[in-house]
Amino acid sequence: MPPALRALLLLGLGLRLAGALNPSDPNTCSFWESFTTTTKESHSRPFGLLPSEPCDRPWESPHTCPRPTVVYRTVYRQVVKTDHRKRLQCCRGFYESSGICVPLCDQECVHGRCVAPNQCQCVQNWRGDDCSSGCAPGVWGPQCDKPCHCGNGSSCDPKSGACSCPPGLQPPRCLEPCSPGHYGPACQFHCLCHGAPCDPQTGACFCPPERTGASCEIPCVRGTVGFFCPSTYPCHNGGVFQASQGSCSCPHGWMGIICSLPCLEGFHGPNCSQECRCHNGGLCDRFTGQCRCAPGYTGDRCREECPVGRFGQDCAETCDCAPGARCFPANGACLCEHGFTGDRCTERLCPDGRYGLSCQEPCTCDPEHSLSCHPMSGECACLPGWAGLHCNESCPQDTHGPGCQEHCLCLHGGVCQPDSGRCRCAPGYTGPHCASLCPPDTYGVNCSARCSCHNALACSPIDGACVCKEGWQPGNCSVPCLPGTWGFGCNASCQCAHEAACSPQTGACTCTPGWQGAHCQLPCPKGQFGEGCASRCDCDHADGCDPVHGRCRCQAGWTGEHSRCPGPRPTAELEDAS
Ligand SMILES: *[C@@H]1O[C@H](CO)[C@@H](O)[C@H](O)[C@H]1NC(C)=O
Ligand SMILES: *[C@@H]1O[C@H](CO)[C@@H](O)[C@H](O)[C@H]1NC(C)=O
Ligand SMILES: *[C@@H]1O[C@H](CO)[C@@H](O)[C@H](O)[C@H]1NC(C)=O
Ligand SMILES: *[C@@H]1O[C@H](CO)[C@@H](O)[C@H](O)[C@H]1NC(C)=O
Ligand SMILES: *[C@@H]1O[C@H](CO)[C@@H](O)[C@H](O)[C@H]1NC(C)=O
Ligand SMILES: *[C@@H]1O[C@H](CO)[C@@H](O)[C@H](O)[C@H]1NC(C)=O
Repeated sequence: MPPALRALLLLGLGLRLAGALNPSDPNTCSFWESFTTTTKESHSRPFGLLPSEPCDRPWESPHTCPRPTVVYRTVYRQVVKTDHRKRLQCCRGFYESSGICVPLCDQECVHGRCVAPNQCQCVQNWRGDDCSSGCAPGVWGPQCDKPCHCGNGSSCDPKSGACSCPPGLQPPRCLEPCSPGHYGPACQFHCLCHGAPCDPQTGACFCPPERTGASCEIPCVRGTVGFFCPSTYPCHNGGVFQASQGSCSCPHGWMGIICSLPCLEGFHGPNCSQECRCHNGGLCDRFTGQCRCAPGYTGDRCREECPVGRFGQDCAETCDCAPGARCFPANGACLCEHGFTGDRCTERLCPDGRYGLSCQEPCTCDPEHSLSCHPMSGECACLPGWAGLHCNESCPQDTHGPGCQEHCLCLHGGVCQPDSGRCRCAPGYTGPHCASLCPPDTYGVNCSARCSCHNALACSPIDGACVCKEGWQPGNCSVPCLPGTWGFGCNASCQCAHEAACSPQTGACTCTPGWQGAHCQLPCPKGQFGEGCASRCDCDHADGCDPVHGRCRCQAGWTGEHSRCPGPRPTAELEDAS
């Protein structure tokens, strides 16, 4: 079984063990468990348009048509999600017993009890790592008939006969003191005596006559009868000499009568008397007792697995595994779901287009509209906008996105793109929901065409048709109304008599001289003439004047421009005046 799989199985076992553990139990550790949930998720869905389109051609009456706004409604949908929760289990080396995590010794402690993972404390007269041997010190073997071959009266393991040498004696047989320059348990430390030898047991320096101090670091003064040395204390590593006890009081992290021995692994503090509690392979700083966690773990006692998606020393690195794969917090390695392989679990175990245990089944996913075909189940993962078992059905109307879960609202004849949900607006409309008309002077698809109207009130955003001002002919509004017509679309006929001109904008008549009235249908009143009948006739002996030119109509017997000269009336003039 690959270690990855075994670790997962162990996790599975841990689940069953985790009943109602107390998180303040120092031997509980946390891990992340994945689970799927079905939740209701609310989201805002475009619902309609307010007001609901009361204006037929809003660009023609922009001030009376309210601006439309899209209204949204909160809707709920079911979502299946993979989530993670923190679970407690007993730390490695411990197991649960009545709600407490107790240390686990792989071998039963026969005559003793398990005090720490794989560490038995034997009752009196019993020895061995599992407290199963009753051999006296000095002999070993199942019948306790083999003498220990360990020097200097050292004891041996009652089961294996291996010597356990006290500090200062050379393993494996404890026959000789540590080789020069070494001291301590298993002779593992180097003397710190500036070249002088040291006590193999304690590491205390044997200084030459000309030097003194705990490490022979202080020179002595040469006197007449040899050297004079200042008095010093034997403590190493900052220990303080306690005269009453004849030993040193050691700072944290050190032990031994002269504080020359670092704490054993797993201990810290004053006299190395404090036990470390770093879990999951974390190491303890012997000075502070703080844990330095193994990669993949965090927390003050390394009791917590890295958060999901992170791994490594102090959980500082980010996992890079395919969705559905598990990432190992220690090294970031990916554990693939069935059917996948590769460093990131992105490669299918079956060749493309096949699935099943022996890859014999053909995939039925539409190749153009599928993301993938699951190598075990053959299930098709569809591209956004596509649905169905084979991903060959496009999303139902007004839906889009992955799984057709999103709703679209495309107004005014806009069409929703099933993949992106974007609206493709009908000509004349724009905006995310096609709710707005094209900006002024533009029209068409994407509002990409420019209007070419000249004397227009507006331009249709749909097809660019010009809404001409009064007095201009339909089309591009560059041609004025034909004579005799006026108004919007030149649809009105002029109502002006006597050849009066008509305003193409208002239809107002501009009367020719001699006529008046709204339609120029009335001649000038007697005594007035000309444009607008504004001039007065200047005649004395006349029957008024000509309404157009103001020429006097002389009475019989009078003549002249102003009808003031008596005289014969020439025939021609008479005829002219009539
Ligand atoms: C260990 O035993 C040897 C040989 O019996 C002896 O010479 C030596 O002094 C002993 N050393 C200690 C530290 O007892
Ligand atoms: C350290 O050990 C010495 C000697 O065994 C003892 O006198 C002293 O009280 C201990 N100090 C602490 C802080 O336990
Ligand atoms: C989708 O594909 C399946 C299998 O090829 C086929 O039976 C079905 O008719 C297709 N559906 C559509 C809507 O094309
Ligand atoms: C409108 O815009 C869309 C998106 O930019 C583009 O795909 C389409 O071709 C455009 N249509 C026209 C007629 O310009
Ligand atoms: C207006 O339209 C007429 C007829 O369609 C065309 O002949 C004329 O060139 C246009 N005028 C302008 C200024 O676009
Ligand atoms: C002008 O008259 C025509 C025909 O009766 C009609 O279709 C059109 O809408 C009118 N145009 C305007 C601006 O009233």
